[in-house]
Amino acid sequence: MAADAREGLSRSPKELAPKYFYDERGSELFDRITALPEYYPTRCERAILNRHAPEIVEGMEELVELGSGTASKTRALLYAMAGVGSLRRYVPFDVDGSVVALCEEELTELYPGLVVHGVVGDFEHDLGKIPPGERRLFAFLGGTIGNFHEGERADFLTRIRALMGATDRLVLGADLVKDRGTLEAAYDDSEGVTAEFNRNVLRVLNDGLGADFDPESFDHVARWVAPCSRIEMLLRSVREQTVSIPGAELEVSFAEGEEMRTEISTKFTPARIEAELANAGLALERQLTDPDGLFAVSVAAPK
Ligand code: AVJ
Repeated sequence: MAADAREGLSRSPKELAPKYFYDERGSELFDRITALPEYYPTRCERAILNRHAPEIVEGMEELVELGSGTASKTRALLYAMAGVGSLRRYVPFDVDGSVVALCEEELTELYPGLVVHGVVGDFEHDLGKIPPGERRLFAFLGGTIGNFHEGERADFLTRIRALMGATDRLVLGADLVKDRGTLEAAYDDSEGVTAEFNRNVLRVLNDGLGADFDPESFDHVARWVAPCSRIEMLLRSVREQTVSIPGAELEVSFAEGEEMRTEISTKFTPARIEAELANAGLALERQLTDPDGLFAVSVAAPK
């Protein structure tokens, strides 16, 4: 965290990585986001998974969920696998240890006999902790792939592909391009939950690095950047201020109105998803969308 803070905050414009949203409070705030009327991705993805779970999990015996969160979205897949008696192991992988522990507890209770092997880590350093296996369904859902820049996406998909054997599959959830109004509302809800989620990154730095960010002195900004096909979330300093971050041996100054980027959320076309999978050595087997065409779930196999 210290190294990332030093690196990101010395850039111009300043930037913080979205993985630092997710301490216990951040995971809770994100769960509240998924229930907001404006935040369509979770609803759409859930509708797709509920409707198509049997074909998505066909032949699979293990679920490896990357960025599992509280695993609410995967329940449909687990349920479908358990239903045909093929579910052997569930591997929830998340950066927030509190949700991994919760998953282990809840799912062991729900499916006695199921082996739950939680992994706490981030995608950059810890993919190697995923246990080997066969007929594993790697699930990367929710549109989290959109948090990566183009090169990082290619790298991530290639590394997942390298972990996969011939009997494994990837199920990828990705949000689709649509009108600006819908997109910006999804990232700037009327209740202000997303704003609190955005500011949570400052609390995480306060807790982790002894920083003295005043979250209330930063405004939440969400904007659709059409040429990059992405939503950007930023925190805008409402005044000139200096923040000290002892854990990173850092003092940072913000000008009044200065914006710091905290997340990108890239939106795709179905063809783009297929092309990026193909570039990583993954052949598209199915591509499913909700009736309104807002969100896509793709299933791919090693080429
Ligand atoms: C969990 C990364 C998919 O990008 O939509 C929700 C995070 N940020 N509201 C997304 C998020 C603001 C979310 N992902």
